[in-house]
Amino acid sequence: MGMKSDLKLIKNGKRLDGRKPDELRPITIKAGVLDNANGSAYLEWGGNKVIAGVYGPRECLPRHRSSPYKAYLTYRYNMAPFSVDDRKRPGPDRRSTEISKISAEALERVIEVEKFPNTMINVFVEVLQADAGTRCAALTAAAVAAADAGLPMRDLIVSCAAGKIDDTVVLDLGKKEDNFGQADVPIAILPHSEEIVLLQMDGDLTKEEFKEAIDMSVKAAKQIYELQKKALTERFKKGGGKE
Ligand code: CDP
Repeated sequence: MGMKSDLKLIKNGKRLDGRKPDELRPITIKAGVLDNANGSAYLEWGGNKVIAGVYGPRECLPRHRSSPYKAYLTYRYNMAPFSVDDRKRPGPDRRSTEISKISAEALERVIEVEKFPNTMINVFVEVLQADAGTRCAALTAAAVAAADAGLPMRDLIVSCAAGKIDDTVVLDLGKKEDNFGQADVPIAILPHSEEIVLLQMDGDLTKEEFKEAIDMSVKAAKQIYELQKKALTERFKKGGGKE
């Protein structure tokens, strides 16, 4: 974000990859891809590839984290060393710690953690290939994995970003748009109530542009929600469940 460049990101109303301003990159989601997790999902979103695995509710370790009121929910966002063009140094860093924290807080709003006191629920998302928008891809996959695990949920979560490039508000920034654009606003919303459970902003937007960006993401979230539902229905049509 904010890197100076003469690169034109929009030409004749079209973006570098040919998309219109309010167009998403292609998304595919598959639920139930891991045998050893209680729930899982694999998601591709443009050039992003992420896999999510959910465990629990299970015994809470370390014990001092357990609560008599709710399950202790953890979320780990992790980038594989080979997920970006330069090798990513393995292990947590400030960025992944931040993403993990806010994603856990968002998921806690939909998973009925109060039904499982003294236990923990662990959500892991591995980014195998990154192409901007990985926190959104990760959280969107994690919600499907949580549903696949059979956890009781108030709603799903859909996460999507919108931002500004070449003075135009656009949906779902690609890598170059993220690097050379003017703003990026990832949000996560509950598709039924349209409640926003995560909101970040990198760069600057006017009030009007901000509203336009949010409206774009909320609209796109409905499309993504349909894909999440389809992934889950297909999973259970196949007789799914655990042997
Ligand atoms: O991925 P997201 O947009 O949620 O987060 P970001 O911090 O805005 O990063 C944007 C993109 O930069 C990522 O999706 C990666 O493609 C890239 N990136 C990278 O190449 N190396 C890193 N250590 C972190 C991010």
